[in-house]
Parts: sequence; C-alpha cells; structure tokens
Amino acid sequence: MNSLNYFLNYSKVIGEIPTPAIIWSEEKIINNIRLYKLALENQEIEIRYAVKACALKLVLETVRAEGCGVDCQSVMEAELSLKAGIDFQKITLNSPRLREEEISWAIQNKIKVICDSKNQIEIIDKLVSKLQFPKDWRYGVRVSLPIEETKRFHSKLGMDTSEILFGLEKVNPKTLSLLDEIHHHGAARETNSCLLSKVTKELGKLANLIENKFSVRFQKINLGSGLDSQDIIKEAGNDLQLILHECCSHLKEQIDTKNRIIVFEPGRAIVQNSAIGLTKVISKKRIWGKDIIVVDISTNVLIPSPLEKFCVWHPNFNKSKTENLSEFVVVDGTCSPTGVIVESVKLPTINEGDMLWIGLSGAYTWSLAQSFYDYIPSAWWLDKQGVIKQIVDRENNKKMAFYINGFENDMI
Ligand SMILES: Cc1ncc(COP(=O)(O)O)c(C=O)c1O
Repeated sequence: MNSLNYFLNYSKVIGEIPTPAIIWSEEKIINNIRLYKLALENQEIEIRYAVKACALKLVLETVRAEGCGVDCQSVMEAELSLKAGIDFQKITLNSPRLREEEISWAIQNKIKVICDSKNQIEIIDKLVSKLQFPKDWRYGVRVSLPIEETKRFHSKLGMDTSEILFGLEKVNPKTLSLLDEIHHHGAARETNSCLLSKVTKELGKLANLIENKFSVRFQKINLGSGLDSQDIIKEAGNDLQLILHECCSHLKEQIDTKNRIIVFEPGRAIVQNSAIGLTKVISKKRIWGKDIIVVDISTNVLIPSPLEKFCVWHPNFNKSKTENLSEFVVVDGTCSPTGVIVESVKLPTINEGDMLWIGLSGAYTWSLAQSFYDYIPSAWWLDKQGVIKQIVDRENNKKMAFYINGFENDMI
C-alpha cells in the first residue's frame, strides 16, 4: 500500500500532532523486512539493517525482534545497536574511516569488521598476532567492481581487484583463515534488476578468484542491497521479490550458493516508506515566477537528492481530483539554499497554516537531523496495535543543541 494512503487511516490522530514531526510505523517496518525474507525462502539469507538510515531505538528494537542483524558505519552505531539488544554476532562494522582503535574495539566486542581498504586488512593482520582473539571472530572484505554504472562508488568505497589481491597476499595464514565474507555495495536507489544482475555476476567472479588463489571460503556473500523502497520500486513498474530472485540466480551462475549465506543490507528499503513527515505552511511567496511554500520542517536531509525522494501531499486533498492544481516549490525555512524539499509539486490552493504530509520520510532524515538544532522534528511511533506515541520530544532536541555547542551548564 502506498505509504501516504496507509497513514490516512490514522489521519484523525495525526492531525493533532504538533508540527514539525515524523511518524514511523512499526507495521510498515515489519512488512518491509518480511518482503526480503519471503522473497528468498529457499536460500539461506541474512538481513542486516543499515543503521545509518535511522537509529531510533524503536526501529532497532523492531529490527531485532524480526531476527535481523545490523550493519554499522561507526562504533557509535554499533553501541546503539548493542543497547537496543542486538546480539554482537549479528553486528558488522564497515567504513572507510575505521582506525586501529575502532577495529580493536570491534574485535574485543566480538563484532565482525568488513575491511574497506588494504590498510584495514593490515591492521587486522597486526592485531591477529597481538590480541587475544575471540574464537569465532571473523572478518570480511568490501570490494569495488569494474562496472560503469557503479563508478560513483569508486570515489571511496571498497578495494579494487589489484588492491585486494595485494592486501591478502601479504597477510599471515592465520589472518587468511579468518576471512569469511565478501561484500559489495553498488546498487543504491536501484529499482530494477539490470544493475544488480551485473553486480552479482562480477561479485561472484571475484569471489571465485579470491577463493581459488588463497584457498579461503566465503561463507557469506554480501550483496549490500541499497535498493529503493517497495513503493518506489512499484512506481517504477517492478517488484522487489522479482529483483531479489533475479540477482540471486545471476550469483548462482558464477558461484555455488549452497551452504552459503547471502547477506542483504537494506537501509532505506526498510525505513524510507515507513514514515511520514508532518509540517505546516509558514508562508507563501513568489520568486521569479515560481510559487514557493515555506514549511516548518527541516533537517539537513529533507533535501531530495542524492539521498531521498520526497512526495509532498495535502492530507485533505483528494488525489483523483486534478483540477485547480498549481505547481509549487516546497522549501524549508533555513537560510541554506539547499533546503528544497520538492522542486515541483502540484497542489491545490494552499493557505498559511495548512498541514502538509511528506511521504518517504523514514530514511536518513532522523540520522542527519541533529545538526539543524532549532528545526529538529519530534519523533513519533505508530505501533502495530495502531497506538501513536511520542518517542523524542523537541525539548530534548533543544537541550542537545545547547549541550553539543558547549553550553552544558546553561541547559534548560
Ligand atoms: C555498507 C553499506 N551497507 C548498506 C547500506 C545501505 O544503503 P541503503 O540505505 O541505500 O539501503 C550502505 C549505504 O551506504 C552501506 O554503505
């Protein structure tokens, strides 16, 4: 179900919530996770939710209750996940910026590291001979593939073939024996299987090459995911289950997937369509022929590109009625010229004080909101029984703004 329509069932209560706010739905998150699980019933899969998309406690607890693990890009995200009760065995740490102390922290906490560079492999090699290693600790490698369409990731993610071969050639046999996962992240915001199929083929080929050259075995093949949410995939005329099926069959053409686990790390696909933003129109103005609506919600990432796509909607407006619509640009009230929420959206007559809903607001909004002090929305949770409660209050955000700017003694 389209996410805005889904929230319409609760429009009476939602209408009472002070703006700006974002409401996440537990049911939508669970459904999104189950779409992944159901798609590949005959293949052992592991779902690791990418915490960077949204680290709210209730989101992480829902992910845990569904039996998923998490992928973290920082020690802080891993600590939040541990606090949410996620088992250390289900957590991975993967980031180009991991330093020795963070890798060492991960090892001591029995958390798997996915190495993003030769330098991180060298650190692990060094620590293997120094540290008391947990018996079951393993690590993985993140690769960068020679695919034209994923060139944008060549700026910093993973290792190319020569780098990884060179890195692994130098490590001692004990370190090699701890390698059990190969990872590639290259399909962010994909809505069809074309690119994913190329990625899985290339990844399978490279996994084969490394296994043969170093006599290792990848127990886990990590396709990273990064697909868009089901709403957007459907809008593009595709289906998440078909995409996942296709990419797994392409992987099987290159490497035997029996007795291996295929890992997916969806972030936005789990939370993006599970939330709506609520905002009020502060003012309207016209600049060089464009009708501008200034609203009261703002985070650094209520900005559509490259992380998000938003759809703005007037909750009292019947979508099937297309007459009397005008085109608007919806912007936040900050002084940053980048705070454009939607470049062009058709809406009915809008008045100051009207409430607008922003669909697809669940991913990356909250994670990156923190530095827009005065504009942080409150966060709300619609549980699976249909009860809505506030989970983060704007007053707490205000306290945090004082605190992180060094005003801890003046906190109100
Ligand atoms: C290692 C890793 N896994 C998973 C993801 C999830 O991405 P998305 O939110 O696009 O699903 C990312 C995103 O950058 C990533 O770097």
